[in-house]
Amino acid sequence: VGAPAAAAVDAYVEQTVACPGPEFAEVQRRAEEGGLPAIEVSAAQGKHLELMVRISGARHVLEVGTLAGFSTLWMARALPAEGRLVTCEVEPHHADVARANLDGAGVGETVDIRVGPAEDTLLSLVDEVASGARPPFDLVFLDADKAGNPRYLELVMEMVRTGSVIIGDNVVRGGAVLDAESEDPDVQGIRRFLTLQGQHPRLEATAVQTVGAKSWDGFSLAVVTDG
Ligand code: DHB
Ligand code: MG
Repeated sequence: VGAPAAAAVDAYVEQTVACPGPEFAEVQRRAEEGGLPAIEVSAAQGKHLELMVRISGARHVLEVGTLAGFSTLWMARALPAEGRLVTCEVEPHHADVARANLDGAGVGETVDIRVGPAEDTLLSLVDEVASGARPPFDLVFLDADKAGNPRYLELVMEMVRTGSVIIGDNVVRGGAVLDAESEDPDVQGIRRFLTLQGQHPRLEATAVQTVGAKSWDGFSLAVVTDG
């Protein structure tokens, strides 16, 4: 399947079923105005994340990698009234744009943006969950630097429960994930991340390849089990 055809199908999916409201165009407008890279998930993928939150009945969602808050908004608006989303972002400017976007879209109260290296934020969250200050997360979306994924997964496993869902973005990377000798730390991070999930006694996982506006890539999906 050629990339242009796949992108056209994404546009069709966007119009027929994903149906992003005007608030998503506003998110992308602020991202562009702020000079952020246009590497957010597609609308079709964002709606997929929204549906994962709804299907899982998640009330506490963790996202690693906020960027302008596009995927954040898809997931946040799927939460029930008492639901909360924590999202980690290392770039203060990205966090500022995301804050404007999420406030503008009316989910500002639902979303806690934590600015700083993801590992530091995750370590704090592990303490908060361990002390009972916050409940475990029901759904986690990993979409920051992919070299960090093995460490992020290790920390995430300390703050989930049986039945929690873990989703990873960009696990195929145009097929580059196959290259065991790759010198790209993101490729090696994803390879280790997938291997850890395949071997983990408390995870059942898979990865699904995608094409479309975002080219050839894929999501990983895992559920936490009793082990
Ligand atoms: C990049 C990061 C992403 O999360 C993505 O979905 C696409 C590209 C990147 O860092 O280039
Ligand atoms: Mg991504």
